Amino acid sequence: MAELPETMLGWTKVRPEEDGFELLEHPVPSPGPAEILVKTLSTSICGSDIHIWKWDEWAQQEVTLGTVTGHETCGHVVALGKEVTTHKIGDFIAVECHLACWECPRCEEGNAHICEAGSIFGVHSNGAFAPYFTILASSARHNPAGLDSAYGSIQDPLGNAIHTLTGGPIKGASVAIHGLGPIGLFAVDVARKMGAAMIIATEWDNSYRMDIARRLGADLVLSKEHNVVEEILEATDGAGVDNSCEFSGAPAALSNAIKSTRMGGYLNILGVYGSDPKVPINEIVFRYLHVKGINGRRMWATWDAMQELLVEGELNIESVLSHRMPWTEYKQAIALMLTGECGKVVLDFD
Ligand SMILES: NC(=O)c1ccc[n+]([C@@H]2O[C@H](COP(=O)([O-])OP(=O)(O)OC[C@H]3O[C@@H](n4cnc5c(N)ncnc54)[C@H](O)[C@@H]3O)[C@@H](O)[C@H]2O)c1
Ligand SMILES: [Zn+2]
Ligand SMILES: [Zn+2]
Repeated sequence: MAELPETMLGWTKVRPEEDGFELLEHPVPSPGPAEILVKTLSTSICGSDIHIWKWDEWAQQEVTLGTVTGHETCGHVVALGKEVTTHKIGDFIAVECHLACWECPRCEEGNAHICEAGSIFGVHSNGAFAPYFTILASSARHNPAGLDSAYGSIQDPLGNAIHTLTGGPIKGASVAIHGLGPIGLFAVDVARKMGAAMIIATEWDNSYRMDIARRLGADLVLSKEHNVVEEILEATDGAGVDNSCEFSGAPAALSNAIKSTRMGGYLNILGVYGSDPKVPINEIVFRYLHVKGINGRRMWATWDAMQELLVEGELNIESVLSHRMPWTEYKQAIALMLTGECGKVVLDFD
């Protein structure tokens, strides 16, 4: 094995303000007994990285200044903690950023993604906008051999899409995807692959992303120019869709989703709202909707389903992966994301 350097540069949130990031020198971390040291291959940029960039209220509460951020990542194992038996040097892994204790009641019942003692890698601890990171071996998932490193890193948001969609019926069902950010776009692609009978995609006004949704096979793409509820009802013989998935974090989209889901249908909500949205609660009651909040990815049911799809090679990830840039161009990548003229943006380390 090539000798490891003692120090590395890492994108570090240093000032409590918009941007506030610097490329600072850090020691290459040493793995704790249950951890592995990973050499980063690709790290993609998440919406929550934008929150940290903007230093909004959520970021101020969750992130300590001095943290190297970045949580959607994959790489090769280069060193092992002394208790680690599940991984070996050279393994190709992706990070499940919801770090779990595996001992609390939630972990024991199979809901480690909502571990009561959980924390988020790259938000609450140093992450992967740097060439090396440490991670609990139990949170490092082996990748299928030969997987492109960009695909390795985007399993976090792709998994969010799959977890959300699978909260309701997909095969032979009518599915509405509200919000065409990277996760909504992945959901359009997965819904097509999983055999949805009809896919309706809604967006506010981002035509770049609406075009991608059409290319991915959405049957109907609606924007703020449309009466979204009426058009969804019209497309479903007045009934509404079987499975509505909310990926925008916009209160208006949530309200539309509730009003355009069929009687007894499913509403799965991944979006995070800046303020408490006004919800037409009686519509939920009288429509007898199954409403579910979605957080993270199931460990490891979501990953199993996702990696099966990736191995089959029939997803159209390439259409959502709009940009790959060297990791040193982090600031340019954020600037691009702020324009909205992109799908998923991936930073490469080689
Ligand atoms: N619960 C979780 O575990 C989890 C994990 C990751 C992300 N999220 C949340 O999921 C959501 C999607 O993430 P992303 O990175 O794809 O987000 P994003 O911000 O890139 O995309 C949101 C999209 O929704 C569109 N939009 C805005 N208003 C709309 C409206 N009224 N109707 C339809 N579309 C509208 C925007 O134009 C944008 O394209 C975000 O709210 C994010 O915070 C939740
Ligand atoms: Zn993320
Ligand atoms: Zn736990």
